[in-house]
Amino acid sequence: MENMKKKNLKKSIRVKIISMGNAEVGKSCIIKRYCEKRFVPKYLATIGIDYGVTKVNLQEREVKVNIFDMAGHPVFYEVRNEFYKDTQGAMLVYDVTNRATFDALDQWVDEMKLEVGSGHGMDNIVFVLCANKIDKGKRVVEDMEGRLWADAHGFHYFETSAQTGDGITEMFNTLFEGVLVAIDNGGRKQPVTTQLGYTREQVEAIQRLKNAKDNYDRLGLRSGATKDDINRAFRRLSVMLHPDKSVAPGSEEAFKLLVKARTDLLNASRS
Ligand code: GTP
Ligand code: MG
Repeated sequence: MENMKKKNLKKSIRVKIISMGNAEVGKSCIIKRYCEKRFVPKYLATIGIDYGVTKVNLQEREVKVNIFDMAGHPVFYEVRNEFYKDTQGAMLVYDVTNRATFDALDQWVDEMKLEVGSGHGMDNIVFVLCANKIDKGKRVVEDMEGRLWADAHGFHYFETSAQTGDGITEMFNTLFEGVLVAIDNGGRKQPVTTQLGYTREQVEAIQRLKNAKDNYDRLGLRSGATKDDINRAFRRLSVMLHPDKSVAPGSEEAFKLLVKARTDLLNASRS
């Protein structure tokens, strides 16, 4: 009996993990940071695919992690495609200082779907989304945008830096643990529960109020909209963004902008 138990504990499990995301977002560096505890500032593009194995002990089990590190550049599409099948965990990465890499996330999911098939196959892959390079200044994709995207897709979300190591261990632990839970559960992953407390609609309204080109645009109206339109838009947005009600980051500032936009528009129409 004792012996059998020991044997069970020692039984090692193999899992397959892949990396995804545009070229230069930091996929290889994140893996290097985790496996070798170091950072290489110089960009060495992955050619096709890099393969590595690392061993981790999780839940008293030895887990052999096979990592397939994909090249993000479009020319390697044909090479990458061979490696999607049988994936149990995926690390999807974007660079917070480059919006195009964030906008490309859906394409990555679609590329994978083509190989794995939508539905059951895709649904049980554990995904972590890495908002990488948070150490750099000039961030253009905000924390809440990334969280919302991850939330909408049922992915875990982590803010990471391969340079400083921030978030990397936590991210990999979550990924590996998620895969183990799925294995123990007959291949079905546990849904990711998040409690953002705010909606995409709120985030979009806040961004519009902050970045719009004029007051009509701030309220989501066409220029020359009527007084009634203005008041209706104002009421809708003030319910959505009132700082006493909304916990979306930036609500307070957005609410002030909203009040000012409406006042200015009504004053202008009067004169
Ligand atoms: P491909 O292999 O071409 O798909 O790119 P990749 O996603 O593997 O990118 P890679 O890890 O090679 O990193 C690209 C560049 O970004 C390199 O110059 C890295 O040094 C840099 N880099 C990666 N992660 C970080 C980070 O967290 N912070 C900073 N400041 N630079 C990073
Ligand atoms: Mg690479």
